[in-house]
Amino acid sequence: MAKKLFIKTHGCQMNEYDSSRMRDLLGDSHGFETTQNEEEADLILLNTCSIREKAQEKVFHQLGRWKKLKEKNPNLKIGVGGCVASQEGENIIKRAPQVDLVFGPQTIHRVPDLYKDITEAKPASVDITFPKTEKFDFLPEQNIDGPTAFVSIMEGCNKYCSFCVVPHTRGHEISRPIDDILKEIKGLSLQGVKEINLLGQNVNSYRDSKLKTKGLGLTNLIRASAQIEGIQRIQFTTSHPFEFGQDLIDIYLEVPELISYVHLPVQSGSNSILEKMRRRHTRDDYLEIIEKLKTARKGISISSDFIVGFPGETEDDFLDTLDLVDRVGYDESFSFIYSPRPNTTAKDLEDDVPLEEKKNRLSVLQHKLENSALNISRKMVGETRKCLVTGVSKKNPGEFQARTENNKVVIFSCSDQSMIGKIVDIEIVEAKNKSLRGVAA
Ligand code: SAH
Ligand code: F3S
Repeated sequence: MAKKLFIKTHGCQMNEYDSSRMRDLLGDSHGFETTQNEEEADLILLNTCSIREKAQEKVFHQLGRWKKLKEKNPNLKIGVGGCVASQEGENIIKRAPQVDLVFGPQTIHRVPDLYKDITEAKPASVDITFPKTEKFDFLPEQNIDGPTAFVSIMEGCNKYCSFCVVPHTRGHEISRPIDDILKEIKGLSLQGVKEINLLGQNVNSYRDSKLKTKGLGLTNLIRASAQIEGIQRIQFTTSHPFEFGQDLIDIYLEVPELISYVHLPVQSGSNSILEKMRRRHTRDDYLEIIEKLKTARKGISISSDFIVGFPGETEDDFLDTLDLVDRVGYDESFSFIYSPRPNTTAKDLEDDVPLEEKKNRLSVLQHKLENSALNISRKMVGETRKCLVTGVSKKNPGEFQARTENNKVVIFSCSDQSMIGKIVDIEIVEAKNKSLRGVAA
């Protein structure tokens, strides 16, 4: 009987991507089948996130619950990967001895060998190095589920924003060679993928290692991806306002396959906070990029991440953030209370903003952001939009889910299963908080 693998994933899309690659790897190397039931698993992997303290706390609670499963099934092996693993290393096994295996985001390709070691009664294994050879050289072809796929193009980050743990846990930027990426996209297209999301912590720093000239890395890659037969939509996640050059704006005029949506995190609308965050741009720099994007691509949706309650954030700083939200008119966005992280420079700043005040600011900001996104949705009601049918609705299996060209989710009824993967005209009939309702035109 095939061995069963249960993976739980916390955090960002990079972790989702790594988890799905581990599923492919362990299936190929050890014949593992994925299970949704942790009670029947032979191997449990927890892919962790350490971006905020709360995410990190979840890890040890979760491991505590799994300890009981191990008492029932002594053959069960437990592995911890991702950013908490990278940060804590052996400490994880000291604090939670039920863990057999610790690996970082750059060593997921070694998990099959590490697993082999621990099943051969060797002691617990830890490998959280950042090997120079890229993990991508060892990963099998992706198994695809539906018409959209992530394609990792670079890993890590060198920006060292003062609040952020990512450069410490995921290491410095490494870009994959463009030929490898294009080969992967061609393979995905042959499997029926219509939309690719070029993925990385900081994709506008993408540089093909063979390309001697600086710059134009991401735009070259977008242009070449759009040439691949079958690829009808392209998006990229996540970019940084610093290094968002004119070429990345012009590409919206040139490549219609790029969807009308960009996630461009600003974090704060206040210049003094942006400086303390070491974001390397001002609020005006950001607004200028947004204006240019809106001119280059009519109706483009902009989304962002925000941090409230950064050390020293005054009421006026916060009002600057609210004002920026009004000016940009964001689509669905993400906002968080600042959380001090190990090894970051911001953790040593004096934090004089009371927690109650931070919570209050978060709730005001989130309310504003929800309204802003809903306004965009309401304006779409009555329009017919080109939508990519991505699959069956998660909530109601009798309905389908699609995405508009500005990346909004649309739910609609249809009896034709062959619609999945097609781009169809859908009339938007209702705007809800998180999605739109439509009727196939
Ligand atoms: N460029 C990255 C950013 C990763 S972190 C990307 O791939 O999106 C994702 C978001 O988490 C950040 O944009 C920021 O808003 C938030 N974040 C990061 N560190 C944080 C911290 N210490 N406290 C609160 N939020 C944080
Ligand atoms: Fe983090 Fe800033 Fe890089 S938010 S991922 S250090 S761009």
